This record gives sequence, C-alpha cells and structure tokens, in this order.
Amino acid sequence: KEPKGIAHALGLAESFADEEPVCAILGDNVYFDDLSPAITAFQKGGHVFLREVSDPARFGVAEVKDGNIVSLEEKPGKPKSALAQTGCYLFDQRCFDIIRTMKPSARGELEITDVTKQYLAWKELTFTLLKDEWVDAGTFESLFRAGSLVRERTLRNKK
Ligand code: G1P
Repeated sequence: KEPKGIAHALGLAESFADEEPVCAILGDNVYFDDLSPAITAFQKGGHVFLREVSDPARFGVAEVKDGNIVSLEEKPGKPKSALAQTGCYLFDQRCFDIIRTMKPSARGELEITDVTKQYLAWKELTFTLLKDEWVDAGTFESLFRAGSLVRERTLRNKK
C-alpha cells in the first residue's frame, strides 16, 4: 500500500517463495544479457548482476577486488567504482530473516543493498558481470534509451 522500499516489497513475497530461493527483478530494469544461466545455477547465498556505468552515484555501487565484491554502497557521494548493482537479485530464503531485522534508511526505505551487504558480510555474495546493455528506465531519458535500443535490435534482427 505504501512505497517502503525494494526490500520491504520482497519481504511481502515470503509466503509466495515457500522456502525456496528467490529471484527479484525490478520492473524498470531492462536487460539485454541472458540472465537465465546464472538464475538456473543459483543455489545458496546471494547473487547480483553488475554493470559498468557512466553515472554510478545513481545506483548501488560494488567495489570488486581479485574477483570478489569487497564493498557495497547505496548511491554513494564518491563511488569507489563504476560498477552498478543492477535490479536483479538472487537470494536464498535467509533474505526474509534479514529483511525482518532491517531499519529504514535516510530516504525512509528498506534498502535492497542492506540485504546484499549482509550476504557480503557472510562472504556469501557472488556476482555476474553484465556485458551487454542494461538500462534502469527510471528517468524519461533512460526510458527513451531503452525504447531506442529495443527498436534498433528488432530492426537489426528483421534484416
Ligand atoms: C534501486 C536500488 C539500487 C540499484 C537500482 C537499479 O535504486 O536501490 O541499489 O542500483 O535500483 O536499478 P532506486 O530505483 O531505488 O533508485
């Protein structure tokens, strides 16, 4: 009934998940990579999909060292990398226990990044680096870009 954050929304899906691992995808995220191999292979812990972006301060930002995520920050003033944590998340059923203990952030939301941070603290957070285009279509400009990309690819495939 109220927008209380992505983690809050995920928490509402607990009975739907029925103690199985879950995949949550934000409705305004448009992916061009095939995520299904990582989703199918997922069993335990947490898994996120990272994409290099030109404007990381708009997103959750992951710092990666030696092939591992070493820090995560939600919309940092000074991003430690250009790797955005995109809006597809794979979690085992412990995510619901994490969400139950969470407090709202400064913007009054239960932040999904606080869930991924907990898996990082447990050293159970893995990631896939996206290679193709990814758009968070949450602004008019990015929504237009997503539409243009789909149009271009559709036209290309028809040739
Ligand atoms: C949300 C998440 C952020 C993530 C982004 C991806 O941001 O909080 O970590 O990088 O989705 O689209 P929001 O849409 O709430 O600004």
